[in-house]
Amino acid sequence: MLKFGFYLPTRVHFGPGAVQQVGKITRLYGKRAFVVTGRSSAKKLGFLQIIEKKLKEEKIEPFFFQEVEPNPSIDTIEKGVELFNKQRCDVIIGLGGGSPLDAAKVIGVLIKNPPPLSYYFGKNKLKNNPPPFIALPTTSGTGSEVTPYAVVTDTQEKHHPKKIIADARIFPEEALLDPTLTLSLSPTLTSDTGIDALSHAVESFLSKRSFPLSETFALEAVRIIGKYLPRAISHPRDIETRSYLMYASLLAGISIAQTGATLLHAMGYPLTSSFNISHGRANAILFPWFWEYSFPGNPEKFFKIITTLMEEAKEHQAKRAKESALLLKEFLQTCGSLQNMDIKVPEEDLYRFAGEIVENKQRLAVSPKELSFEEVLTIYKKALLI
Ligand SMILES: [Fe+2]
Repeated sequence: MLKFGFYLPTRVHFGPGAVQQVGKITRLYGKRAFVVTGRSSAKKLGFLQIIEKKLKEEKIEPFFFQEVEPNPSIDTIEKGVELFNKQRCDVIIGLGGGSPLDAAKVIGVLIKNPPPLSYYFGKNKLKNNPPPFIALPTTSGTGSEVTPYAVVTDTQEKHHPKKIIADARIFPEEALLDPTLTLSLSPTLTSDTGIDALSHAVESFLSKRSFPLSETFALEAVRIIGKYLPRAISHPRDIETRSYLMYASLLAGISIAQTGATLLHAMGYPLTSSFNISHGRANAILFPWFWEYSFPGNPEKFFKIITTLMEEAKEHQAKRAKESALLLKEFLQTCGSLQNMDIKVPEEDLYRFAGEIVENKQRLAVSPKELSFEEVLTIYKKALLI
């Protein structure tokens, strides 16, 4: 029976030059804008200057918070909240990759909801709406501009530092998607963020919570990434390529916002928090093995994905777990996602990670196959030790 809910309250403005609208759009929400961004690249590339100019044209006072580190900590969030309050700001703009966008969302959470932040880890724990939030991504991967999710790092927690806040109240009000902001991304960042978007699309499509509409978004994202991600590596300054990748990231974000992620994301998080492997890279490393072991859970869907991602995929390959996983690996290699794999991970950590993964019954239940402890451990070992 066809039965689903679909919620996307974010207004999207897409296209080269979309950043120029930031003043007019922010004006709808306030007069004192708190701009949350990373430590250097947004300024170096001149994006901050554009935003400052456009805000001032609309008589909006900008306050820049340029302190967001990769995998933002609660300390950084608290600093942001303090500054927002001190400057009596009324609207938040997040500019950057996943870390600044998520940090901006979480700052918003703590401005309107009393501390500690840990009250709000998990699903639908917020009492009040955060201030209005405008998302301006500078990478094509996170999807954070259209999701109700934010990931934050709790450094007090040694074993589970990655905390997720999932709440419809943190959907951005507005998303300005300007592919010109991604033209200078390095091949590594292009590939890591592109594979993050691909994993959103694939996991959403495979999720047991998926439905025809979310699958339509997810599969179109897979098709576009298959066509344009390798091209973005070889032609980094091609605006059409960058536009389609940003579009695919948006579609993948919309689909993951409806279904949530599955095991691949869950397995990647500890690699990021314990070994500093970037989020997209962590997913890429695990991806072929996650694919091979999960394949029996829904061979038809895996077939659909791989033949959509790679036009050249042969039917007999796409129908088999191992061979289609090899096709995926080939794609990841074409995108440079498996290069420079000099990663040292102690074996005992992998046992611990696998134990934690299988404890998360909810996540397992929506994954295409409910993998056992041994299977999860084997995926980790094959991806990282062999
Ligand atoms: Fe992700």
